[in-house]
Amino acid sequence: MALMTDFKGKKILITGASRGIGFESAKLFLAAGAHVIGTGRDQERLDHASAELSTIGDFHPLIADFDDPAAPALVAQAVEARWDSLDFLLNNAAVQTYKSDWEDEGLDLLQSQLRCNLFAQHELIFRLQHLLRKGSEPRIVNVSSGAGTLESLKTSSDMPTYRLTKYALGGLTLLWAETLRGRVAVNALDPGWLKTDLGGPHAPGEPADGGQRMWEICSLPWSESGKFWYGNQEIDF
Ligand SMILES: NC(=O)c1ccc[n+]([C@@H]2O[C@H](COP(=O)([O-])OP(=O)(O)OC[C@H]3O[C@@H](n4cnc5c(N)ncnc54)[C@H](OP(=O)(O)O)[C@@H]3O)[C@@H](O)[C@H]2O)c1
Repeated sequence: MALMTDFKGKKILITGASRGIGFESAKLFLAAGAHVIGTGRDQERLDHASAELSTIGDFHPLIADFDDPAAPALVAQAVEARWDSLDFLLNNAAVQTYKSDWEDEGLDLLQSQLRCNLFAQHELIFRLQHLLRKGSEPRIVNVSSGAGTLESLKTSSDMPTYRLTKYALGGLTLLWAETLRGRVAVNALDPGWLKTDLGGPHAPGEPADGGQRMWEICSLPWSESGKFWYGNQEIDF
């Protein structure tokens, strides 16, 4: 496999770069000489992350709360104002609320989580596809989860909204991969269960493992598209 190993000068948008997997990924790409725009929802956390990331490389913080339907368009606008092309769109930001079943979740959670876990990713791809087409071997990575595979839906019913949004993100990945085939590579990543705020303290892996898996999926041959990966190992949607 001809892996991509040189990220120097690449222009990368990472959503949810203020902590967790997005933050760890930003550290790796900045250290490799990439330019990174990283979003966060909380100003204080983003400032804190930005202070550290800016010591590593060319990092630009951008406030975005994807619960606000206007946010994806504002992010796309800000990216376009800074860059005339984009090499990587890393759709990483998401929310997970742990509830044991649909009854416990109530009716509203699906409505609200679809915004941050599916609609924002879709709109960012839609609005940034023309900048990506001007990039060099451009790629999109949608960060999904092992909790959203077809197999897991057949056997587990806790946190149903989160599972369903991630399952749908797999579908979104396939559809955009077909739409952009030959122009932009589109893949989904399972970063593994990690000790982030989302993953919780009992997870077996570290946040940095997620950064490493993001690096691996971004290093795959550009011809790989429309697939689901755990790092650089292909898995089933
Ligand atoms: N950790 C795991 O075990 C695990 C397993 C499988 C998949 N994943 C996936 O990996 C990705 C990253 O997860 P993580 O563990 O790094 O999560 P995390 O530590 O909770 O970080 C989430 C990031 O997303 C941002 N974010 C959250 N809600 C947002 C919203 N409504 N609008 C805009 N930004 C928002 C946060 O910004 P603020 O800091 O401003 O809130 C933060 O930067 C997610 O897609 C998640 O589903 C994680």
